[in-house]
Amino acid sequence: MNVQASDQAPASINQNQTTNPSVDFPISEIVDLSDLVNLFDFEKKAEAKMTRLAYEYVASGAADELTLRWNRLAFDAIKLNPTVLADMTQPDTRVSLFGDELAYPILIAPTAYHRIMHPDGELATVRGAGIASATYVVSSFTTTPLETIAENATKPLWFQLYVRDDREFTKDLVQKAEALGCRALCVTVDTPVGGVRNREQRINFGLPSGIQAPYMLAPGPQKKPLTWTDITWLTSLVNIPVLVKGILNAEDAERAIQAGVSGIVVSNHGGRNLDTVPATIDVLPSIARRVAKRVPVLLDGGIRRGTDVLKAMALGASAVLVGKPVCYGLACGGADGVAKVMAILREELELAMILTGRATIDQIDRSVLWS
Ligand SMILES: Cc1cc2nc3c(=O)[nH]c(=O)nc-3n(C[C@H](O)[C@H](O)[C@H](O)COP(=O)(O)O)c2cc1C
Repeated sequence: MNVQASDQAPASINQNQTTNPSVDFPISEIVDLSDLVNLFDFEKKAEAKMTRLAYEYVASGAADELTLRWNRLAFDAIKLNPTVLADMTQPDTRVSLFGDELAYPILIAPTAYHRIMHPDGELATVRGAGIASATYVVSSFTTTPLETIAENATKPLWFQLYVRDDREFTKDLVQKAEALGCRALCVTVDTPVGGVRNREQRINFGLPSGIQAPYMLAPGPQKKPLTWTDITWLTSLVNIPVLVKGILNAEDAERAIQAGVSGIVVSNHGGRNLDTVPATIDVLPSIARRVAKRVPVLLDGGIRRGTDVLKAMALGASAVLVGKPVCYGLACGGADGVAKVMAILREELELAMILTGRATIDQIDRSVLWS
């Protein structure tokens, strides 16, 4: 099989990697972000700023990019039904998730290779997350050691896991993540192989020299498939909640609960893996119905507006994650760019709550949707 696992450099590029080099983190340039007023502005600016390799890597979806587009179109197609004169001023966006209080229900999704987007890489991302009071889910494909990220974290971190054939390595990695203070483990289950990434093929995507993903050195094609038994095994290795990321139907959600997970992330990998699967917001209601609040259900894919967050919460999500916009924020302005992306989304959510008359996240239910 010559299809590369998603968000993974071709094995040939990683083959000679044996150690993680010590990395000098340059001081970020001062950038003016004042002209960027929404998340789409960030994408435009990032396209102009990023290398072509990095932009194509972040922006592209699988095959014909239908799912990538549907993720957005599906949010756009949902209309809102506001309640007026609800007697409130400042909405309360706090949520409690696995015993932690989040200032607002938007997390930074795990995305690979931040050092191709900005020289400070994940270090800038974690600082941006701190400024924005956001929980950051660090990818297994981080190009910065987890220790360095953890040292610079001022808000909770989660760790996203790609399970390697070498299960001992996997065990050590998740226990390291837990020891470094990660508050949850998100096991990605939608990527036994990567998707058809024509745009990446055209630019012959590979990591530039000097940038490595220390926990994913030369992974090669997976020989030991990941199964539900592995998920149960993973839950036995750590004392932090284990979530599965990449669930798209109620049956798999049920299997995940039976396997012992503490949470589910409804995700189609941002339209990057299997093209023509539905938009995540379209599958959320049936999954939320089946899960019936036994565990929290999170969602990602296409969240670009505060109203998208509101719609996801109305249809049963406990929180959402954003991927590409954070990468664009990072590319545009390092930590400040990441922080501004999250701040815009948070503020838009607050405005949407005021304008629909919802004072707390608990008050966001289906009645906020027009039907
Ligand atoms: C550049 C990029 C790299 C990604 N890398 C990973 C990864 O390493 N692990 C993972 O579980 N998901 C990865 N994803 C998927 C995201 O976690 C998330 O599911 C998706 O980006 C959400 O959709 P959005 O970008 O529309 O917000 C990546 C997505 C992008 C855009």
